[in-house]
Amino acid sequence: MAKVEMVVNGVASTGDVEGRTLLSTFLRETLDLTGTHVGCDTSQCGACVVHVNGQAVKSCTMLAAEAAGATVSTIEGMAAPDGTLNVIQQAFQDHHGLQCGFCTPGMVMSAAALLKENPKPSETEVRDYLEGNICRCTGYHNIVKAIMAASGQDVAAVAAE
Ligand code: FES
Ligand code: FES
Repeated sequence: MAKVEMVVNGVASTGDVEGRTLLSTFLRETLDLTGTHVGCDTSQCGACVVHVNGQAVKSCTMLAAEAAGATVSTIEGMAAPDGTLNVIQQAFQDHHGLQCGFCTPGMVMSAAALLKENPKPSETEVRDYLEGNICRCTGYHNIVKAIMAASGQDVAAVAAE
């Protein structure tokens, strides 16, 4: 076991990990941040997306030890301290961008990364960016709509699927 330290959602966090401990496991089991979901064991679903030093990362593909010293953001850090939802979370709620909600943390974190690098993405760019995030419920239409709305764009023209 080795001690790792990182800043998670603005809080200095530490824990003992094995060399093989995944970042997703560290977040969920050591830090109790269970909003980061694990939906596969093949690095495909994207439910585990968090930000590491500002970059969207599938936390099941990164060792906790690799994130030592990093700044990590998870879904728990998206809302304001008083519980006010982040603009992306609010847009998911307003546009029914979720059903069971399992994929939602990863979707929101991916959307946040997309809007940071491309504040006004086209519908095609949103769909392309979400290629690594799987939703088994929604058909993606309302997720795309929510992200377009969060970017301040008119969603009336978002194609129905
Ligand atoms: Fe990480 Fe599925 S749990 S991609
Ligand atoms: Fe159920 Fe996406 S809302 S998996």
